[in-house]
Amino acid sequence: MLALTSTSIAWVILTVILIGFVVYAVLNLRSAREELGSEIELAPNRKEYYSDEVLEGRRLERVQLLGVLLLVVVVIGLPVYWIFEPSRQAGAVDAQEEIFVEWGRRLFAPTAEGGFNCAGCHGGYAGGGGEAAWNVTDPATGEVTAVNWKAPAVDTIFSRFDEDEVRFILVYGRPFSPMSPWGVEGGGPMNSQQIDTLISYLWSIQIPRENCGVGEDDPRSCPSGNLPADIQSDIDTRAWQLVDDGTYESYGEALFNLDLNSGAYSCARCHTPGWSWGEPGVTGQGGFGWNLTGGKANTVFPNEDEMISFIKNGSQYGKKYGIQGQGSGRMPGFGTMLTDEQITAIVEYVRGL
Ligand code: HEC
Ligand code: HEC
Repeated sequence: MLALTSTSIAWVILTVILIGFVVYAVLNLRSAREELGSEIELAPNRKEYYSDEVLEGRRLERVQLLGVLLLVVVVIGLPVYWIFEPSRQAGAVDAQEEIFVEWGRRLFAPTAEGGFNCAGCHGGYAGGGGEAAWNVTDPATGEVTAVNWKAPAVDTIFSRFDEDEVRFILVYGRPFSPMSPWGVEGGGPMNSQQIDTLISYLWSIQIPRENCGVGEDDPRSCPSGNLPADIQSDIDTRAWQLVDDGTYESYGEALFNLDLNSGAYSCARCHTPGWSWGEPGVTGQGGFGWNLTGGKANTVFPNEDEMISFIKNGSQYGKKYGIQGQGSGRMPGFGTMLTDEQITAIVEYVRGL
């Protein structure tokens, strides 16, 4: 509609200009013909100009002054522009990023506040972990049970997965769990711009890491950093408590099953069937993650060190792991979340399953 209006306006203007030009040309032709012969008197190049005194006096000075002023503008203006341009660009990028974060926050919001309820399941705007009411159907008997499914903390999500892996989770969800697909490719309601703004929001709520290396400017993603020491020692305290009260036999077993921030630090939520809704089956027998029992994992990783480095880095899409495994990017990395001692203890436990 608007386009149509402006197109017609443009046509009218063009027509007026064309008619005006034709009228001008006709008038000009006619007047030129009438004034034939007057060229010698009237031609500007034949008129007498200013005298030398006038030309080289104040007039010249005025033009020179104008030249100097313009030179000042160029000499000062260009470097000032050159100095401020990078920060202006950075500022524009930051401002854009802030807008994305705000848009993402609105999508993340609880249903009551008009969002898609990520906050409702994942523990509020801070994403510290929560749970979701869900119905589980027993594949064998067809029996349906109402359960509460743990929704892991997402304030450490980029410590476990890279951006593409998180995008995959958001677009396709986790089948058989309350985490539904959100991207249109997965059958959900969000376009790729909305998924991107959600990712910006998730970045904004990440717990900053400690011990970042030189040149690693962003503490939310610095490769050599780790989660704050107090979080790592909370994990320790919780795990040892579970050993002391007899829930688990070893520190490694306790870490494998740890229920902290809805299992964000544990292995069992993916590798033990039913763990996420409080009815754990055989530990490590596989659910979303693979079956680790019966020494299977030791066949994949004959060497303990290789298993340790796999747990630290997680799997990467299409990349080889172990002897002949191919990663899908769905096994998270724990290197920046757990300490080396914690990972070693878990691996020793897994090798004994
Ligand atoms: C109905 C509740 C519910 C809603 C709504 C929901 N999630 Fe989830 N989400 C879950 C559950 C439960 C899991 C864990 C699934 C599993 O056990 O593998 C999960 C998993 C995730 C994961 C992977 C975490 C990990 O460490 O494995 C991310 C990231 C995530 N959700 C982000 C989001 C975002 C962003 C939104 C909003 C668009 C959202 N979720 C909406 C329940 C929900
Ligand atoms: C978010 C779910 C998830 C969590 C949490 C998780 N894993 Fe996994 N794990 C997977 C998936 C999925 C695979 C299959 C490999 C792939 O798809 O890349 C896997 C593969 C593995 C393998 C290789 C098994 C094989 O036979 O190839 C080992 C070993 C393993 N995980 C151990 C662990 C340990 C130890 C932890 C806890 C520190 C853990 N996983 C936490 C999902 C998970």
